[in-house]
Amino acid sequence: MWENPIFLLPGPTQVPPRVLRAMSAPMVNHRGPKFKELLDECIPGIQKIFQTKNDICLLTSSGTGGMEAAVANFIGRGEKAIVVSVGSFGYRFKAICDKYGVEAELMDFTWGTAADPQKVKERLQQDKNHEIKAILIQHNETSTAVLNDIEAISKAKGNHPALLIVDAISGLAAADLQTDNWGIDVVIAGAQKAFMIPPGLAMVSVSDRAWEAAEKINSQSLYFDLKAYKEFLQKGQTPYTPAISLVFGLKEALNIMLEEGLENIFKRHILYRDMVRQGVKALGLDLFVADDIASPAVTAVKAPEGIPAGEITRIMREDYNVVLAGGQQHLKDKIFRIGHLGYVQPMEIIAALAALELTLEKLGFKVTRGAAVTVAEKVLKERRD
Ligand SMILES: Cc1ncc(COP(=O)(O)O)c(C=O)c1O
Repeated sequence: MWENPIFLLPGPTQVPPRVLRAMSAPMVNHRGPKFKELLDECIPGIQKIFQTKNDICLLTSSGTGGMEAAVANFIGRGEKAIVVSVGSFGYRFKAICDKYGVEAELMDFTWGTAADPQKVKERLQQDKNHEIKAILIQHNETSTAVLNDIEAISKAKGNHPALLIVDAISGLAAADLQTDNWGIDVVIAGAQKAFMIPPGLAMVSVSDRAWEAAEKINSQSLYFDLKAYKEFLQKGQTPYTPAISLVFGLKEALNIMLEEGLENIFKRHILYRDMVRQGVKALGLDLFVADDIASPAVTAVKAPEGIPAGEITRIMREDYNVVLAGGQQHLKDKIFRIGHLGYVQPMEIIAALAALELTLEKLGFKVTRGAAVTVAEKVLKERRD
């Protein structure tokens, strides 16, 4: 009966009605003036959200396509790179590097911790001949709900000439990421996260240094050859037929984001993070990551002893129409994840916490009904007053 669940995934996220309406516009010629106008309006908006003056490549692909484009264009076959991993999406960067013949060294941090900038610094200091061409890292590791300190990683890199390539697919527009101020060469974002549009677009920002590297490399991919995207952008086009409806949606989503303003967006996500974390703690549940590295986009909660996380997410969905995510790989059934990025209202978080109380009670875990809701309301009230 209910068409809309309370949808708290860490992507895809809810799409605002304004964006849905914008996406229902009739088709335009992607080689004509209307699409050029649309793209010309979108690019400066994307640059504001990325906090950059760098070129933006708009790809019709999921986020992984953006990651693949970064590897295919900026690191040559046989060249060395470091993949700084704190979870499953770090492994994805490594898998892409392996496919493209990049000699990627995995710096593997324990899941649930953040990347240690000191370790990155020490590794780069050993690289006297500057053989390492790129450092690849996640901004927000969605699988573990950890926010890496990208500014500190950039400082740790110092003057080492390696490119800094950041997968900000689930972090951008949820947590601060200052592409230009922090000297990030390549940033990848995805549509279906804090950008609040359906899946199918990836955005990649490219610094001059990265373009210089690309000039020396024969891109190993045709579809993801970013030089073609740069060239076509001058004409207000993309090299191949773009997901036009999603670009209509993107324009409206950018309007919404810029009306709210980046500072307010970040504050709102921090509010949600704190409501969820404090609410969950009030129920006696343990969080998967420490407060100082906790993501403002998603929260990972440990399932209580003896209760599989999958049972919690199943009852939440079946009994209360609340959609949450489970754990990935070895964290399956160990954690569940509450996404709170993008088009989420505070009262949806309160409702989800209420449903969590009832779900845990049904599963035989002793809770004080109302405990999570009361604490989350307190956090909300304090920030609003
Ligand atoms: C941090 C991160 N990187 C990469 C991806 C992969 O993106 P996609 O599923 O859009 O290919 C995701 C998706 O959840 C993600 O959260």
